[in-house]
Amino acid sequence: TKRNTILDIGLMKQKQEKITVLTAYDYPFAQLMDRVGIDAILVGDSVGSVFSGYDNTLPVTLEEMLYHTRAVVRGAHQALIIADMPFMSYQVDIRDARLNAGRLIKEGGAQAVKLEGGEHMATTIRAIVDIDIPVCGHIGLTPQSIHRMGGFKVQGREDEQARQILADAKAVEAAGAFALVLEAIPRELAKMVTDAVSIPTIGIGAGADCDGQVLVIHDILGLCDKYSPKFVKRYADISTTITAGIEEYIKEVKEGEFPTTAHSFK
Ligand code: KIV
Ligand code: NA
Repeated sequence: TKRNTILDIGLMKQKQEKITVLTAYDYPFAQLMDRVGIDAILVGDSVGSVFSGYDNTLPVTLEEMLYHTRAVVRGAHQALIIADMPFMSYQVDIRDARLNAGRLIKEGGAQAVKLEGGEHMATTIRAIVDIDIPVCGHIGLTPQSIHRMGGFKVQGREDEQARQILADAKAVEAAGAFALVLEAIPRELAKMVTDAVSIPTIGIGAGADCDGQVLVIHDILGLCDKYSPKFVKRYADISTTITAGIEEYIKEVKEGEFPTTAHSFK
């Protein structure tokens, strides 16, 4: 099977086929979700929270994103792979932004990058798109803006903020982005945005009217002991399975039940 391209993702909006996206940070998870037909994989900077154990995504480096992107690319052959641009890899100037986006494609092997921000990032998005690197936008709750937002809070509840989010969406589209993540905004606003732009919207905590959905893999599989937001649905509880397996191993080694001759060389 051939890998999905940004054109395939765009066509799905036109055909009103929902777009499925999950995050992955390593080879085994990428392989598992690719084999069952996920449309796109996001190598999110959420790696900082769910993999590295930081409180937020700000400490994640470009080198870390490259390492995780390469692992995901080796595991997935059908899904479109989008790599997040980490904090401070695109905010300072256009030259940095282009060089770092280019590294995620050239060294990481991703087919697209994602960056956070609306109107104020339009010039940066355009500059990256202009060198043939597909960009996915991300507006609403943008985790790299945690210190401005004063925490992880639903965005766009007040009229003025809602108008800004709609303007952000239009600016991101006009700058040439191929898709747009909408995070933690009221579902009515997400529907307005989705109707107002021709590029697919990928919602996370943005209701059912987006063109697609994205969630963090650790959250949906119950692999996160930290607080998980209202918009997360748990589809499995692998922590329990993992814990049981590890407990059994510890017990069997302690009691001399493992290894048996079946696991030993003569
Ligand atoms: O880093 C991430 O996982 C993300 C998604 C939650 C959209 O940006
Ligand atoms: Na992210």
